[in-house]
Amino acid sequence: MLRFDHVNLAYGSQTILKDISFEIQEGQFAVFIGPSGCGKTTTLKMINRLIQPDSGHIYLNGRDIASVDRYELRRHTGYVIQQIGLFPNMTVAQNICVVPKLLKWPKDKCSQIVHDLLDMVDMPYDRYAHKYPGEMSGGQQQRIGILRALAASPPVVLMDEPFSALDPMTRRSLQLEVKTLQQKLNKTIIFVTHDMEEALDLADVIIFMNQGEIVQIAPPEEMLETPATDQIKEFLGKHQTGPDPASLTVDQFMRTGIITVKENRGVNECVSRMQHHNVDTLLVVDQERRYQGTVSIADIRLTGHVVKTIGPLVRCTTPVVHVGDNAKECFEQLISSGFPYLVVLKEDETVAGIVTKTSMASAMAEQLWG
Ligand SMILES: Nc1ncnc2c1ncn2[C@@H]1O[C@H](COP(=O)(O)OP(=O)(O)OP(=O)(O)O)[C@@H](O)[C@H]1O
Ligand SMILES: [Mg+2]
Repeated sequence: MLRFDHVNLAYGSQTILKDISFEIQEGQFAVFIGPSGCGKTTTLKMINRLIQPDSGHIYLNGRDIASVDRYELRRHTGYVIQQIGLFPNMTVAQNICVVPKLLKWPKDKCSQIVHDLLDMVDMPYDRYAHKYPGEMSGGQQQRIGILRALAASPPVVLMDEPFSALDPMTRRSLQLEVKTLQQKLNKTIIFVTHDMEEALDLADVIIFMNQGEIVQIAPPEEMLETPATDQIKEFLGKHQTGPDPASLTVDQFMRTGIITVKENRGVNECVSRMQHHNVDTLLVVDQERRYQGTVSIADIRLTGHVVKTIGPLVRCTTPVVHVGDNAKECFEQLISSGFPYLVVLKEDETVAGIVTKTSMASAMAEQLWG
């Protein structure tokens, strides 16, 4: 649909665009984003030949636009800019029909277009068609600006920060309207913004520019998941998602450095270890450090006087999970089991750690708030 092929531009010694290449498919919503002065507007203006590249080519539907008459080109390219630019001495209907009129479309066809388009943005024809721009709010004027760009049904619509002057509510509703219109009419839209939220909401594909170069081209999900540079990360800011909660594993939530005791150790040694570490149970392991179970101070008090080593007092009731197990399932098991902790084992059955409600909560807080 639209293809930039190694496009370059300089003003004097200053490089403005450096080897820009990308392709946008028909019906796609493409959003350019990047810091101020990175070349977004310049790139957009090249599409309708308001600016010519020094080198490289731009193809629209397979045709090099350098070979297309520029006025012809502009009639077939909708263009919406930040400052709306409605003609103040024309009514809404006349404003919408500027291009169809230039194309000498019949009157009744023009009138039908105005009806249809106003309908689509919930501005009743009878109420609005004959108003002048000065009689409407900024948001309403901007809607008309968008309708005007769509009126001659251009295959591609260019929008340069069309909503940046609007209040957040109006902005939000216009974003939704534009996205709906684009999907309904299957338009190719090239949109410029420096608002990442807007880009993430609207785009099928985001093109991130910096200092005249394209840094990353990716769908929103992919950009969120794997931003190419720290600068993009910064732009993504609060929108950046952490790891997918469904893929978290139990070992990301466990406490390590757990005190263990060998099963052939004496009861007294075990008790002094418990006192020293201020715990009421210990994990018991065999000579190869493989997990055997737990021993509790309560059991030692009850029957510790009749045994020498803790071996006979080991219980295997504490739930056991393994490194790599799904965190959510383990969490549910911890809650429903009523045990104070889960034992997490490595593949070789040695102890990796334990998960307590506290370790779970603090790891969750870490994931949520960093
Ligand atoms: N007529 C001009 N002469 C010289 N330099 C220019 C001219 N127009 C733009 N520039 C420079 O070209 C670069 C790209 O400008 P452009 O308007 O494309 O940026 P932008 O990404 O749209 O920025 P913003 O987010 O502020 O709108 C800037 O460094 C700007 O200063
Ligand atoms: Mg700009």
